[in-house]
Amino acid sequence: MAGLKPPAPISRSEYQRRRRALLQMAQDDAILILPASPERVRSHDTHHPYRQDSDFEYLTGFPEPEAVLVLVPGRPHGETLLFCRERHPEREQWDGPRAGPEGAVDVYGVDDAYPIDDIDEILPGLLEGRSRVYYHFGRDTDFDLKLIGWVNRVRAQVRQGAQPPHEFLELGHLLHELRLFKSASELRQMRFAANVAAEAQKAAMRATRPGGFEYQVEAALWQVWRQHDTVPAYNPIVGAGSNGCVLHYVANRAPLLDGDLLLCDAGAEFRGYASDITRTWPVNGRFNAEQKALYELVLAAQAAAIHEARPGRPYAAVHDAAVHTLAEGLLSLGLLKGTLKKVLETEAYKAFYMHKTGHWIGLDVHDVGEYKIAGESRLQEPGMVFTVEPGLYIAPGSKVPAKWQGIGIRIEDEVLITAEGHEVITSVVPKAVDAVQDWMAGR
Ligand code: GLY
Ligand code: MN
Ligand code: MN
Repeated sequence: MAGLKPPAPISRSEYQRRRRALLQMAQDDAILILPASPERVRSHDTHHPYRQDSDFEYLTGFPEPEAVLVLVPGRPHGETLLFCRERHPEREQWDGPRAGPEGAVDVYGVDDAYPIDDIDEILPGLLEGRSRVYYHFGRDTDFDLKLIGWVNRVRAQVRQGAQPPHEFLELGHLLHELRLFKSASELRQMRFAANVAAEAQKAAMRATRPGGFEYQVEAALWQVWRQHDTVPAYNPIVGAGSNGCVLHYVANRAPLLDGDLLLCDAGAEFRGYASDITRTWPVNGRFNAEQKALYELVLAAQAAAIHEARPGRPYAAVHDAAVHTLAEGLLSLGLLKGTLKKVLETEAYKAFYMHKTGHWIGLDVHDVGEYKIAGESRLQEPGMVFTVEPGLYIAPGSKVPAKWQGIGIRIEDEVLITAEGHEVITSVVPKAVDAVQDWMAGR
């Protein structure tokens, strides 16, 4: 674990490349407007830890709130403009350093930068003469209203010859297609995040013992995450026994009982890039017969799903393979009745497997990018990264014999599509029954 070495940060030229790609997609009569995330209050006058908006991060690497990126394709005096807070020694004494407009140009490589307080004066002039506006409508209502105000300022000048924009388009339509394909440098950040998450999972396995509590297992995760300059990519799910059947369980407060399983879905975020791993292990270090049967079924479903991960295969084939394997297994264990055809047709398997088998992952844990194109599942291509995370959740009260009830299992890894096929980038966490038991026994 001490050997985990962080990669070089994403270079300034890569951010410039990303902006150039977007400018080119948007073409010359457009303008693109993207605000930074606002700070959010957690309690009275204290804030949640600040996290930059993923799209803004992708295009700038600029870590501050109260900033707006404006891309103006073909503008002779500079296509990339950033509005940001001015330097302010007194505020910086309390809140930390600010780049200021000078720093934005020098450090982040934008063409021009202006004080955020001047945006009302400058933005209408940038909108004038541009026919299309790319923007995330509805994401930040306060900012939506500001934009409408700026557009109306241009509209008010029509009789003086001003040309207001007349098409308003979803920025994500262009930007999210770019974000779906990870560069070599992004993959280095993602592998690091994945490796840290993997070590955290291993530590969590060894921190599990009957008589302990879910939060103590969570503490082992945090120890490894923070040791490596990462933060949680989402609220970790540490669910013992039937808590493992609650898909978004985050209380992490219950005792660990001898004989129960523990489901741990926990990923680290490094420089904005997420990782997402789930393992399920026995609290006492040994699977019982029912746990083992279901665990091995989920493992087989994951293997079948990962087998479908390669360029040219429809993304949906991954989920279909997992469902097929789970349905067959549930029938042969007697947890479902009828024929495979019927179980697939009626989706009876959804009683025990009600979510999809994965999602894109990148700057967002549930990353952006279309799953379908013109109604059809899109084909996998090199540079895509997604999770493969089948599970089975036999909630208490299910109409099955009691010995199965309260078992919740998920196994989740991250898969990178390569030119040759795929690579599982989270595979260092023990996964086979013996490997899990050995690791927990200190072997
Ligand atoms: N941890 C969220 C997910 O697995 O999708
Ligand atoms: Mn996931
Ligand atoms: Mn997960």
